[in-house]
Amino acid sequence: MKAAIVYHTKTGHTERAAEDIAAGLRDAGVDAQLIHASDLDDGHLADAAIVVVGSPCHAGSCRLRGGLSGPVRALLKRLGKGSLAGKVGGAFAVNYAYGGHVTVGAIEKALRGAGARVPAPGVVVKAGVPLSLYEGPKASPDAREALRQLGQALAAAIEAG
Ligand SMILES: Cc1cc2nc3c(=O)[nH]c(=O)nc-3n(C[C@H](O)[C@H](O)[C@H](O)COP(=O)(O)O)c2cc1C
Repeated sequence: MKAAIVYHTKTGHTERAAEDIAAGLRDAGVDAQLIHASDLDDGHLADAAIVVVGSPCHAGSCRLRGGLSGPVRALLKRLGKGSLAGKVGGAFAVNYAYGGHVTVGAIEKALRGAGARVPAPGVVVKAGVPLSLYEGPKASPDAREALRQLGQALAAAIEAG
């Protein structure tokens, strides 16, 4: 079984979060692939039983454009109605402090709108600094564990059918 974890990152935190979700999926026997949002093609999604989308929180604290980074917003807009029917979806976001729940909510809404089942709540991880390309602090061990558990929960949801 395959999973596609699609993300955008500017300073690496969201990519590291994607790797932690992939670790949880792989522990459960899922073939998890990381795909940068700008490299995504329809084949990646067609092959995947699980589609996980992650974005750095960009202006989520002021609720602008769903708090999504540009490439993630563009890919969610491209998802046709029913294009993820029968698949399990999941969301994650990385923020400095505020608004990550807006980002996760926008991703979950788009996944459900495309027909995916979203069985586990999205995870928001704290890392980085506001409005800067300075990398800043990395996610905590607890946050990384929450990401791994999200991967495991999504794998379990597919098994349960
Ligand atoms: C344009 C921009 C807008 C941002 N808006 C927010 C925000 O609303 N709330 C917040 O807590 N962090 C905000 N941040 C900080 C990032 O979410 C944070 O640094 C994150 O770790 C970056 O992830 P990345 O390393 O995957 O790019 C913003 C960063 C940028 C560049």
